[in-house]
Amino acid sequence: MTAPSRRGLNDAVTRLWGLVAPAYDLPFLQRWVYRPPHDEVIAQLRAHAARKVADIACGTGILSDRIARELQPDAIYGVDMSDGMLARARARTDRVQWLRAPAEQLPFDDGALDAVVTTSAFHFFDQPAALREFHRVLAPGGLVAVAALSARQPLLQAPSVNRWKPQHNASPGEMRALFEGAGFAISDQHRIRRPVWTQVISDLITVGTKS
Ligand SMILES: C[S@@+](CC[C@H](N)C(=O)[O-])C[C@H]1O[C@@H](n2cnc3c(N)ncnc32)[C@H](O)[C@@H]1O
Repeated sequence: MTAPSRRGLNDAVTRLWGLVAPAYDLPFLQRWVYRPPHDEVIAQLRAHAARKVADIACGTGILSDRIARELQPDAIYGVDMSDGMLARARARTDRVQWLRAPAEQLPFDDGALDAVVTTSAFHFFDQPAALREFHRVLAPGGLVAVAALSARQPLLQAPSVNRWKPQHNASPGEMRALFEGAGFAISDQHRIRRPVWTQVISDLITVGTKS
C-alpha cells in the first residue's frame, strides 16, 4: 500500500489534473501527445485478445472509449483518482465502467482481469506499488502494458524516486527491473513511435505478462 505522505502528494497531482480537465481533449493535444501511446496499447490488446481490461489513470476516458468501440471486450473499466477527469469520462460514454481509485489500490479481486494498461500517467504513481497491484488483479497469462515518460539519458536525469517527488520518469532499465520485481516476464519494450516533430516527448512502452 502507498505510504500516506506519497498518497497526499499524489492527491494534489490528481486534483491539478481535475483543473486542467476542460482543456485536456483539445484535438491537437490529443493527436500529437496522447494518441501515439493509445495506438500502441490498442495494438497490444488486440494481439493478446484481452476480454477483461482496465485502463488505469484513464483521465477523460479517450483510450478506454476506444478500447470499448474498437475491441469490444467483455468488460472495460476506466479508473482514475481525479473527479474532474472522471466527470468528463462519464459524459463521454456509458460503454465503460468508470471507477475512482488509486493505481496502487485497485477495486478488483485477485486475478479478475486479463489486461491492465496505463498511458501517460505511470510517472506519477508509486511505481513498485502500482506494478504489484497490477500483478495481483491479473489472471495468470494476463497482459500489462505501461506507456509513460521515460528518460533517454538516465545519467542526466534527476536522481532516484523519493516520496517528495510528484513524478519520476523511469529509464528503460528501471522499468525492466520494476516489471521483473513485480513478477512480470517482459515481452516488449520500445520507444513510442511518434511523428518526428513530437519526438521531443521521450516516452516508452513496456509490455509484460504474468506467468
Ligand atoms: C496525463 S493524464 C493521462 C490520462 C490518460 N491515461 C491518457 O492517456 O490520456 C494523467 C492522469 O493520471 C491520473 N493519476 C495520477 N496519479 C494517479 C494515481 N496514483 N492513481 C490513479 N490515477 C492517477 C490523473 O488524475 C490524470 O487523470
